Amino acid sequence: APVTVKKICCIGAGYVGGPTCAVIALKCPNIIVTIVDLNKSRIDAWNSPDFSLPIYEPGLVDVVKEARGRNLFFSTDVDKAIKEADLIFVSVNTPTKKSGVGAGFAADLNYVESATRRIAAVATSSKIVVEKSTVPMRTAESMRTILEANSKPGLRFDILSNPEFLAEGTAISDLFSPDRVLIGSLQTPEGLDACRSLIEVYANWVPKERILTVGLWSSELSKLAANAMLAQRISSINALSAICEATGANIDEVAHAVGRDSRMGPKFLRASVGFGGSCFQKDILNLVYLSESLHLPEVAAYWRQVVIMNEYQKRRFSKTVVDTLFNTITNKNITVLGFAFKADTGDTRESAAITLIRDFLSERAHVTIYDPQVEEAQIWYDLAEAIPDTPIEQIKKQVTIAPNALDAAKNSEAVVIATEWKEFIDIDWKAVYDTMNKPAFVFDGRMILNADALRQIGFKVKTIGRGE
Ligand code: NAD
Ligand code: UGA
Repeated sequence: APVTVKKICCIGAGYVGGPTCAVIALKCPNIIVTIVDLNKSRIDAWNSPDFSLPIYEPGLVDVVKEARGRNLFFSTDVDKAIKEADLIFVSVNTPTKKSGVGAGFAADLNYVESATRRIAAVATSSKIVVEKSTVPMRTAESMRTILEANSKPGLRFDILSNPEFLAEGTAISDLFSPDRVLIGSLQTPEGLDACRSLIEVYANWVPKERILTVGLWSSELSKLAANAMLAQRISSINALSAICEATGANIDEVAHAVGRDSRMGPKFLRASVGFGGSCFQKDILNLVYLSESLHLPEVAAYWRQVVIMNEYQKRRFSKTVVDTLFNTITNKNITVLGFAFKADTGDTRESAAITLIRDFLSERAHVTIYDPQVEEAQIWYDLAEAIPDTPIEQIKKQVTIAPNALDAAKNSEAVVIATEWKEFIDIDWKAVYDTMNKPAFVFDGRMILNADALRQIGFKVKTIGRGE
């Protein structure tokens, strides 16, 4: 019979583990939820008395305020939380491998494996182990093998796949009312029982018809497929944006017309400087690697093109900036507004802004950056990583970080919108114009500004996907 879950442990207090399990705690007051991580400063931030949490996510503070100390706990004592739990979420990072077999494509499973081995080493009772991280197919099987080979006799481990579909910036509303919750299990009586135990957790707030149950391998593949198809939509619209710029068509109008087809739908058709974030590229490369391992080179090439198009879009945008500024930006001041990979997050992983700034610096421009959420230290860290052959002191001579948009734009030749922060729409653009060198350019990589109004002020404006 299914176990009633009373204690949950979540291994990994990052962008997924933190918000997901905080919401579970909020919605399931009868379950004790402990979120653990090896990173002490991250856990300290989750526990900070003034709620200066390690990640910025609208609505998250309110959730943590209500549940923390009631039935939600954050700790570095991984072993204790594992021992006490009936159900364990594995929400650790699965980045793209940087070296070794599959480097640049395959997922690094080292963190998943360490967490799994820790569960095997310390568990003294049977557990349901839930794969929450996005993983290559058949990872659940590896986890089971490791658990069975290393645990104490007489214990059972049931493995479930329960991929997370939240998007950063809207994580809390996504978790409160998900389009679906997907649970994959073995189709054995034990596997189905474990599945029922997890359904009971989500059923505290998610309507049952939104909880989908499938086989383990379908569940693992569905997560990769969902991200690949979402990213593919963006690459498709971005590919069309290049045609628009070359012809005078308007990508907004094209996206609107296409999206009106109810088979297509209007969402996720915003042309941009290119998609970023920790997952789209990683998960597609993972799918490419899988396809190649399965000797399906045409399938691999198909998905790979989504990433190639994204790289092209970023390169194309920086080239437009250089071309428009009379073919040279050497010693010019370029202002980049936005550094996060999308609005409403402080996350910068794979942000298109990083690539653009790297391109501008390689043209020997001076770049001034402003982002409402990203911390200075993070910007220096990302630039150092993106430009490994230049010492950070040199980078710092070419880059300034400003406290607001107006300061950032002072004496610059061009303002580049890299992230769609709402506050950029409301900037006093007349004041910005007055402080800039002339002719003053705006490059809107996110289609958020009113180009006509800017032109009235005197700006020269280029918007992605518009051929005017
Ligand atoms: P993250 O890097 O923010 O968090 C992972 C955390 O796990 C880190 O704090 C790390 O210290 C911790 N960790 C690693 N190994 C550990 C171990 N053995 N024991 C204890 N703690 C350990 O990563 P994330 O963005 O939360 O992503 C986690 C997974 O979820 C990835 O597989 C990702 O693909 C997937 N995912 C992410 C998102 C997203 O929006 N970021 C959405 C859906 C799925
Ligand atoms: C994405 C998916 O949307 C989530 O469902 C998934 O759980 C998650 O990846 C994951 O697996 O990590 P996320 O990367 O947080 O979520 O954010 P998105 O809203 O998908 O945006 C990704 C990137 O695409 C951003 O850079 C965004 O600006 C860009 N984008 C998005 C566009 O350029 N155009 C669009 O129309 C939509």
